[in-house]
Amino acid sequence: MLHGKSILLIVSGGIAAYKSLELVRRLRERGASVRCVLTRGGAQFVTPLSLSALSEDKVYTDLFSLTDEAEMGHIQLSRDADLIVVAPASADILAKAAQGLADDLATTALLATDKDVLFAPSMNVRMWTHAATQANLATLRERGVHFVGPNEGDMACGEFGSGRMSEPDEIADAVSDFFEDSAPLSGRRALVTSGPTHEPIDPVRYIANRSSGRQGHAIAAALARRGALTTLVSGPTNLPNPAGVQMIHVESAREMLAACKSALPADVLVCAAAVADWRVGTQANEKLKKNGDGVPTLEMTENPDILATLSASANTRPDLVIGFAAETEDVIAHAQFKRDRKGCDWILANDVSPETGTFGGSNNTIHLVSAAGVEDWPRMSKIDVADRLAERITEQLGAGE
Ligand code: CTP
Repeated sequence: MLHGKSILLIVSGGIAAYKSLELVRRLRERGASVRCVLTRGGAQFVTPLSLSALSEDKVYTDLFSLTDEAEMGHIQLSRDADLIVVAPASADILAKAAQGLADDLATTALLATDKDVLFAPSMNVRMWTHAATQANLATLRERGVHFVGPNEGDMACGEFGSGRMSEPDEIADAVSDFFEDSAPLSGRRALVTSGPTHEPIDPVRYIANRSSGRQGHAIAAALARRGALTTLVSGPTNLPNPAGVQMIHVESAREMLAACKSALPADVLVCAAAVADWRVGTQANEKLKKNGDGVPTLEMTENPDILATLSASANTRPDLVIGFAAETEDVIAHAQFKRDRKGCDWILANDVSPETGTFGGSNNTIHLVSAAGVEDWPRMSKIDVADRLAERITEQLGAGE
């Protein structure tokens, strides 16, 4: 359930720290890798050796340890994790996190992270109900921090009430739920095309266009982040492969079509590639030479339309087929016509006139054309377009269940 996920577990001071040893085992049984940070208070209750043996990794304790910083700085510690779990979370560490204090490795990692954090509070009932703790909780909740527990019960201090840390299985369940909620497309398959195509003239020359591939790559990354099993078929670009996608590199339109067919079935297809409409009919096997007979004439022939072909394939048509319409005039009218002609469900129409800077640039202005009408999106970065589209796809596929 947690395969491939890395958890940074911060163990702060409290009698419940002994349960964190069991938590490491539970998380690892579910497939996660666990790296531990032990605070000075936590080390009063469990030893680095026990955590290290159970996590099968080094345990990090000291902000100012030169070895730790050389091997793995505090920034890297939090960056490498998919989720940070603080268990037990003492009143002290909650207060520091709420205030943004960073006076040891654990609190520095919490301040330096851009990842989600799950706290499993553990403290005496009076500390838990104190107005200061409750105010800190409200601050953290407002920031989107997650909590599991505490439970009610007998406490080590002899009192009864709320403040007992959740059991290791409850915390592991909360971790699993977190990843399920953040992966609404898990179990879905997505196929995305991106980039330009290169259509060869001879062994050293080709016809291409100015597409950067940024939009298609960002869409593949956004779908993969939501848990979809994503294949990205891309023409030549200068972009790195997005994390978590199955990458197929191609050159020409015909190679792109073949690669897409091999990647089907899919629940959603997004054709963002700027596929060349034509190719040279007969590619020269040898480099064309200047031979005194004047310039060569290139006989062009039409390329297959990948979007229209996959949209029309009765057996393998994805449930949701999405294309782009790159237009320079009458954007909506052309997009509506293109949607009908290519048989797709949605068309993301964009104005690619040179003055918009869209083609090859970082921003895009989209009009989503569907059977329901036209949705105008504000101008935004291609990354934000990708996220918004992935949200819409999630809603649509969810609605079809
Ligand atoms: N497309 C495709 N295969 C092609 C041509 C286009 O899959 N051979 C897809 C693009 O990925 C895009 C959509 O079709 O999703 C529309 O592309 P666009 O370039 O706007 O349209 P064209 O089909 O090239 O039509 P026109 O040149 O007439 O505007």
